[in-house]
Amino acid sequence: MRTYDKAFFDQGIDRRNTACEKWDGMAERAGHDVLPMWVADMDFPCAEEIMEAIQKRAQHPVFGYTSYDRECAQALLGFIERRYGLCLPLESHAMMPCVITGLKTAVLTLTQPGDGVIVQPPVYGPFYGSVRENGRKLMECPLNRDENGYYTMDLERVEDALKAGAKLMMLCNPHNPVGRAWTQDELTALWSLLKQYDCALVSDEIHMDFVLADRPFVPMLSIAQDESDKVIALTSASKTFNLAGLQQAAMLCRNQKLLDALTKQMNAAGVTQGNIFAMVACEAAHLYGDQWLDGLKDYLRQAYDLLAKELKQRLPKAVLTPLEATYLAWIDMRAYGFSMEELMERTLAQGVAFSEGTFFGLDCGAGFLRINIACPHSHTLEAVKRLEAAIKA
Ligand SMILES: Cc1ncc(COP(=O)(O)O)c(C=O)c1O
Repeated sequence: MRTYDKAFFDQGIDRRNTACEKWDGMAERAGHDVLPMWVADMDFPCAEEIMEAIQKRAQHPVFGYTSYDRECAQALLGFIERRYGLCLPLESHAMMPCVITGLKTAVLTLTQPGDGVIVQPPVYGPFYGSVRENGRKLMECPLNRDENGYYTMDLERVEDALKAGAKLMMLCNPHNPVGRAWTQDELTALWSLLKQYDCALVSDEIHMDFVLADRPFVPMLSIAQDESDKVIALTSASKTFNLAGLQQAAMLCRNQKLLDALTKQMNAAGVTQGNIFAMVACEAAHLYGDQWLDGLKDYLRQAYDLLAKELKQRLPKAVLTPLEATYLAWIDMRAYGFSMEELMERTLAQGVAFSEGTFFGLDCGAGFLRINIACPHSHTLEAVKRLEAAIKA
C-alpha cells in the first residue's frame, strides 16, 4: 500500500486539460496561464483505494439505473463514529448530489417565501444565494473579528434576528472562509438560543474532516440530540477526498418527520438517483481513506506554517486569520490600500488567482483574499511571491 507522506503530497498532479474548473476554467477566464489558489478542491491525487474501487466497478459494462446502497451510507456513518464519536442510525441518512442541494432543500422545506434565514458573514457565497434565489429574507448576523483576525459568533445579533422572527439558521461548521472550528461551548450556546425561539438549523459540515487545531471536530448533531430537534447536518466525501466532480453528498437528520419532508422536497425537484461511481468511491473513501486523510492533514498544517512565515516576511501588513480548520486561509490585505478590484487585477496580472473576499460578504469581505493551500507547498510559496509582486508593482 502507498504511503501518504510529505513526498506524496509534494508531487501534486497536473490537472490541466481535464475540464478542471480550477485550472482550465481560470486560464480561460484570465486569457493566460494562472496559478489557481481559488476554488476549494485540491491539487492532489485521491487515495489509491478510491481509484481501485472506481476501476473495479468500471469493469462491469452496464451502468444502468442504480439503487442507493446501504453499504455506502453505513460507511459514512461508521467513519463519523470512528473519527468523531457520533453514532447515528441508518434511517437518519439521505443521499443528495451536493451540499448546496441540501442547503436549498432545507430552505424550501423549513421556510415559506418571505421568511427570515440567519447567516453569519463573511460566509461561503452560495449561502446567500440559497436564501435569495428562493425568495426568502436574509438576516445577516456578522461574525465578530478581533485585531488578530480571529472571529467569534455574535449571539446578541443572532438573538435579535430570532426576535425578529427568523425561521432557519445556516451554520458553517467549520467555517469557510474564517477557518473557525466552533467549540462545544460555542455550539451549545448557539443551539440553546435557537431552540428557545423554535428556529431550525442547517449545519454545513462539508469541512468537518479538516480541523487542524489540536481538538476534535464537534458535529452539531452531537449537541442537538433530541429526535424532535429541527437540525440537519450536511456533509460529503467530496471535499475531504477530492471527489467533487462525482457529485454525491449526505444529509443527516435524527428527526424522521423532517427528513421525510426534505426527501420529498428533493424528489419533487427530480433528485432521486445516485451516481454509480460516486457510490463506490465514497464508500471506499470512508472505509479505507483514513491514512490518506491523516497524511493530508499533516501536510496542510505545514502549508499553513509556510504561508504564515512567508507572509510575515514578504507582506508584514497582511493579517492572516488563525487557521483552526479548512484548507482555506483568509487574509486581510486592507492595510495596503487597494480596492477589491485592484487587488484582483494586480494579482491576476502577476499570474495568480485568489478568491476575492467580497464573494463571502460585500462589506466584511472587501479587501480580503482567500487562498487555497491544498496544493504542493511549492505552489503556496510561489503564490505568496506573486502576491508580493502584485502589491509592490
Ligand atoms: C462551506 C461549503 N459548503 C458547500 C460547498 C460546496 O459543496 P458542494 O460542491 O457539495 O455543493 C463548499 C465548497 O467549497 C463549501 O466550502
